[in-house]
Amino acid sequence: MLFRSWAQVAEPGWPDVARVADHVGVTHLVVTRHALVRQVLTDPVTYRPDNALDAVTPMPVHALRVLAGHRFRLPPTLANNAGASHPEIRAIVAEALHPSRVAAQRPWLTGLVRERVARLSAALDAGAPVDLYADLAADLPLLVLARLVELPDAPVGAVKAFARAALELFWAPLDADRQLALAAEVGRFHGVLRDFAGTGGGLAAALRAAGHPPDVVVGALFFLLVAGQETTSQFLTLLLHRLAGEPAVRAGLRGGDVPVADVVEEGLRLEPPIVTWRRVAAVDSTLDGTPVPAGTSLVLWLARAGRDPDVVAFPDEFRPGQRGSRRHVAFGAGAHRCVGDVLARMEAAVVVAEAAPLLDGVEVVRAPWCPDNLTFRMPDAFVVRRAEPATAPFPRQPEPAADRQDDAVRPPVELPHM
Ligand code: HEM
Repeated sequence: MLFRSWAQVAEPGWPDVARVADHVGVTHLVVTRHALVRQVLTDPVTYRPDNALDAVTPMPVHALRVLAGHRFRLPPTLANNAGASHPEIRAIVAEALHPSRVAAQRPWLTGLVRERVARLSAALDAGAPVDLYADLAADLPLLVLARLVELPDAPVGAVKAFARAALELFWAPLDADRQLALAAEVGRFHGVLRDFAGTGGGLAAALRAAGHPPDVVVGALFFLLVAGQETTSQFLTLLLHRLAGEPAVRAGLRGGDVPVADVVEEGLRLEPPIVTWRRVAAVDSTLDGTPVPAGTSLVLWLARAGRDPDVVAFPDEFRPGQRGSRRHVAFGAGAHRCVGDVLARMEAAVVVAEAAPLLDGVEVVRAPWCPDNLTFRMPDAFVVRRAEPATAPFPRQPEPAADRQDDAVRPPVELPHM
């Protein structure tokens, strides 16, 4: 269950707190109810965030050596920092992502998305399949982030590959060969960040000026580059896919009866890109009557908590604006609550407003497929094409699953520098 929890998110019968063993025999306490998830997230004394970035598959010595060779370190900075430095580091990052700076990016992003949608619409009209992940959603959040935060000059493709490698290395069940390959990729880019952290301006300079050591600057940039863009591109893909199956919602958007912001919130509730998030028990405690010894890993099932019938009127239905829709915990809660929520919401609102019309009259050629992962969805593609008219004499049959990926004939995508 742990590594494909999104597939069981609506399954009945889960207890409020469940003991689940992982692939290496470690038992986690999976917390499913909204109130309990919030209780854990907002009590950093009993439940600390120290394990937020721990590798769920312990790293073998040879992978650790590769990382050490790149001087890889992840000291407590943001999500994994329960110490005194957290509020100050968070405040510096929050300044860079201030709502007024986010709002200033909206016109630029709208123009870019509009341009892409026009190109994709023309491709659909010409009968071609289009991949709304690769050709629309994948790089948008990184391009916006690079306008808000000074980042190393690296090709977008290289940053995406590094970030996805990091999500796999730390949160996926892996064998030793794969760990080694991922450690090499993650370690190499970490080196790029280390060089940049010493000299870069903007956020890196602000952290240096506040007296934070180089490891902390690198660690903060590392987390931002992963959390600040992969999450949102995954969300955009999952939300577009969901909307493809919600014609009534699209009609409401078209007619102006359904506000875009409500669609984004309902999307976060039902299709969060981060399905679970971890905490570790600092002391012996009980949670809803279940004993929680110090050291226990708690897996907070954010996606399930968003469907808690105590909170939301129609838990499994996409009903923008319904009672409880906005009370999801997709962004966490408490002192570590996501500091990029305003940015993520802005990006999603622009994409929904501009790209939802693309979904009218199309059929899904290939739904997003997500690899095993404790926390991140990581959809790989979302391919659509114009639906055949219902009156066609020989309606086309859907192809067998194995052939579908090759169907995505994509124009070569020019990946810009950030
Ligand atoms: C849909 C997109 C996103 C989702 C679902 C998401 C979700 C989350 C979650 C669940 C956490 C952990 C919260 C906790 O421990 O209580 C978190 C933390 C964080 N997120 Fe996001 N996030 C998204 C986008 C972003 C973006 C765009 C940025 C920045 C550009 C960002 C930056 C951060 C940071 C810095 C933290 C750590 C905050 C701290 O520890 O003080 N996230 N996010």
